Amino acid sequence: MRPQIICHMMSTLDGRIDGERWNLPRNGRTVDEATACYYDISDRLNAQAWMLGRNTVQIHHAPHSFDHDGLPPTTRYDPFLGERTTRRSLVVLDPKGRIRYEGGQIEGDDFIAVLSEQVSDAYLAHLRELGISYLFAGRDGHDLALAMQTLGTTFGMRRVLLEGGSIVNGAFLKAGLIDEVSLMLYPGIDGLSGIHTLFECQGPAGLLPSEGTTLQLTHLERLPDDIVWLRYVIRRTASQSAKPH
Ligand SMILES: NC(=O)c1ccc[n+]([C@@H]2O[C@H](COP(=O)([O-])OP(=O)(O)OC[C@H]3O[C@@H](n4cnc5c(N)ncnc54)[C@H](OP(=O)(O)O)[C@@H]3O)[C@@H](O)[C@H]2O)c1
Repeated sequence: MRPQIICHMMSTLDGRIDGERWNLPRNGRTVDEATACYYDISDRLNAQAWMLGRNTVQIHHAPHSFDHDGLPPTTRYDPFLGERTTRRSLVVLDPKGRIRYEGGQIEGDDFIAVLSEQVSDAYLAHLRELGISYLFAGRDGHDLALAMQTLGTTFGMRRVLLEGGSIVNGAFLKAGLIDEVSLMLYPGIDGLSGIHTLFECQGPAGLLPSEGTTLQLTHLERLPDDIVWLRYVIRRTASQSAKPH
């Protein structure tokens, strides 16, 4: 059984998520001070893991790249359970195995890498050497339902937070795998076309990534610094090929 998946994000009023661009709050505090509550709420959501896309991890946490040049793909697709000593894990969605890690943890959380079947044995050896767990998400690394199933059954996860960026949020939305959205609205407006938004799916003009869903508001709270916390449960109509957790 897959874990419950809560997409936990903070955005401006226009749904944009690049915190480096946000205007200051009106009370003289910094953006970092005002947005610290995002991490408090993340803790309160009491999940066993948080998940990030490869871009977000390389921008904020692990910038180095692994060179697979000329290395053949592995032929062994068993998940590996490395060192799991922390209360929470950080699940990194990195299909091509682009990230070269410097250690097995970030911000006090163990990494778990979600990979495609195209990564090299040398890359898997790099992860094992650092005690980093890994699992596979099919041939192209985009079979998120399979990856979530493995997180539930092999890693014992019951609740995970999906924390961006836009591309992986869009991929989970399109796959019908998001059970709840926890949205913190920051009192700002970005306003620039092309800046990342909460969910972004590539597809033809008629594509409706959340077709067959309805959203039910279950929580509304005003926080300090004019931030609002909203929780919505996503319900699926019978016609949508839902994958219940
Ligand atoms: N405000 C917030 O709460 C918040 C939270 C997180 C991030 N952010 C911001 O979001 C921005 C980065 O977001 P992003 O959208 O560029 O990148 P992203 O979603 O972090 O990462 C996208 C990458 O994930 C990989 N991936 C894994 N599974 C995939 C799948 N099923 N389908 C497609 N790709 C998959 C692909 O890597 P490959 O290209 O290697 O195939 C893809 O390019 C940054 O500006 C960051 O600061 C904001």
